Amino acid sequence: MKFQDLAALGLLLVTGAIASVPTIEIKGSKFFYSNNGTEFYIRGIAYQDDYDGGGAKGTGQTSASTYKDPLFDLSICNRDIPYLQKLNTNVIRTYTVDPTEDHDECMQKLADAGIYVITDLSSPDISIEANSPVWTVDQYKRYTDVVDAFHKYDNVIGFFVGNEVVNQPNQTVAAAFVKAAARDIKAYIKDKDYRSSLAIGYATTDQEDIRGPLSDYLNCGDQSSAIDFFGYNIYEWCGAETFQTSGYKDRTNEYKNYSIPIFFSEYGCNTVRPRKFTDVEALYGPEMNDVWSGGIVYMYFETQNKYGLVSVDGKSVSTLPDFGYYSKQIQSATPTGVNSAKYSPTNTPRACPTLDDKWLAKASPLPPTPDTKLCSCMVAGLSCVVSDDVDPDDYSDLFGQVCGYGAHICDGIIHNATTGAYGSYSVCGSKDQLSQAFNRYYESQDKTESACDFDGAAKLQKPKRVSGDCKAPLSSAGGVAGTATGTSGGPASTSTSTGAAAATGAPGRFVNGLSMAVVAGAAAMVV
Ligand SMILES: *[C@@H]1O[C@H](CO)[C@@H](O)[C@H](O)[C@H]1NC(C)=O
Ligand SMILES: *[C@@H]1O[C@H](CO)[C@@H](O)[C@H](O)[C@H]1NC(C)=O
Ligand SMILES: *[C@@H]1O[C@H](CO)[C@@H](O)[C@H](O)[C@H]1NC(C)=O
Ligand SMILES: *[C@@H]1O[C@H](CO)[C@@H](O)[C@H](O)[C@H]1NC(C)=O
Repeated sequence: MKFQDLAALGLLLVTGAIASVPTIEIKGSKFFYSNNGTEFYIRGIAYQDDYDGGGAKGTGQTSASTYKDPLFDLSICNRDIPYLQKLNTNVIRTYTVDPTEDHDECMQKLADAGIYVITDLSSPDISIEANSPVWTVDQYKRYTDVVDAFHKYDNVIGFFVGNEVVNQPNQTVAAAFVKAAARDIKAYIKDKDYRSSLAIGYATTDQEDIRGPLSDYLNCGDQSSAIDFFGYNIYEWCGAETFQTSGYKDRTNEYKNYSIPIFFSEYGCNTVRPRKFTDVEALYGPEMNDVWSGGIVYMYFETQNKYGLVSVDGKSVSTLPDFGYYSKQIQSATPTGVNSAKYSPTNTPRACPTLDDKWLAKASPLPPTPDTKLCSCMVAGLSCVVSDDVDPDDYSDLFGQVCGYGAHICDGIIHNATTGAYGSYSVCGSKDQLSQAFNRYYESQDKTESACDFDGAAKLQKPKRVSGDCKAPLSSAGGVAGTATGTSGGPASTSTSTGAAAATGAPGRFVNGLSMAVVAGAAAMVV
């Protein structure tokens, strides 16, 4: 008896430990359960407390630098999972997680409840910013840290490399940095031999000027740089709308031929309250369920922005009126879709958009891949670098100053997605980039000592001879000075236009133009 009990217990423990959910895989424009090929429809809920931060909700663009990781405190997961289950939830979307925390317990509890996770990679502090986009070693580290922390869970579907980064025509250059991030995170997952079904996506804002070209841009060209799924944050169905009147019909037509899965990454307009969620029937019904893989309701927690399904107070959860309405709707959302074995995708990737006054990001080249080693090798090889006591808040002004000193001073750190010109060191942290520019200026002044000063912000150092494992990265970057690549005629075409500006007697304008561009990048790096 005793032995049998123990054996039974042992068996339970073993099955408990290995019991998990089947992974979710993408084929064509749909998600499938990997165990049996049943199509997977997302019945999701956005799950991040305290995340409106005063900025655009849930965008990762808020000024708050603190956040609550929703997936590490087991007591919180235990508190909320029963409510998620009552809503038939099979996906939660989290916006910011802390890769230094241990998520094993919550992730297991979620798996036990059949709930998958899609999380954003950015944090309020470290993201690709709409108005000053960069893709540097700092973001690369944060994004890959999150992948390292979550890749091992079978109930992770994938990651968003950006949420509402590109929101209007003057922000479309940011799409190049988002796509570079997608390319590099996909390559990282491959290099690390992580599960190949881990997918990389982007969640877009619903803006008519840009939704077409943005969907094309992130999906076009070399598929190793393209996103794997597209999330659409949509608030078009408010109150008593219909499939036709809400805009859902138009959006559905627009994505009928999209080659990757698309779903609502946020939905649930609240301008008419309580929300009755009559759009759920349309989303999971025959008019939409061949094009859309379900959606993620915004959101679980009630915060100031009044989108909550529940309000929480310590250990207790109270359901709000929206909870009941959504519950009623989602229980009857039971699309069956198609089995993977019977599905032969025919949609092909879109063509890349051409540049015009509403689309400013060139499709290729994309920004280079951040490489910490390259940056440290470069700095070691410089003669003039940033002094250690310079306040990062002063970097913007210093970039403006040094880049204004001549046409090529900042070629090594330029990052212009419209021309496709990217300096080899545009991927470095802001301090390293500033050192790079200081050194170029110093060299341009025939190494006059006074050229490495900047009121004490710059200092001389003895450059290290390039050797060992610095040789290869530095030589492909064009030496410690770096080169700008990607313009149609290479760096020369930059010099021609900038040279011309200077020669036609408008050096001031040129100086300001270049300064502005670089300062914009610098501001993003030092927030
Ligand atoms: C396929 O597997 C999933 C996950 O275990 C399950 O929910 C689904 O019902 C299965 N499909 C069929 C047709 O049995
Ligand atoms: C885009 O325009 C908005 C005003 O609508 C402005 O605040 C923002 O700085 C602009 N961004 C860029 C990159 O020019
Ligand atoms: C897909 O549909 C869109 C919008 O209707 C259209 O602009 C595009 O040309 C189509 N693309 C392909 C590859 O058929
Ligand atoms: C990129 O270069 C173009 C052409 O020189 C210029 O008009 C534009 O302002 C630059 N963009 C940025 C963000 O610096």
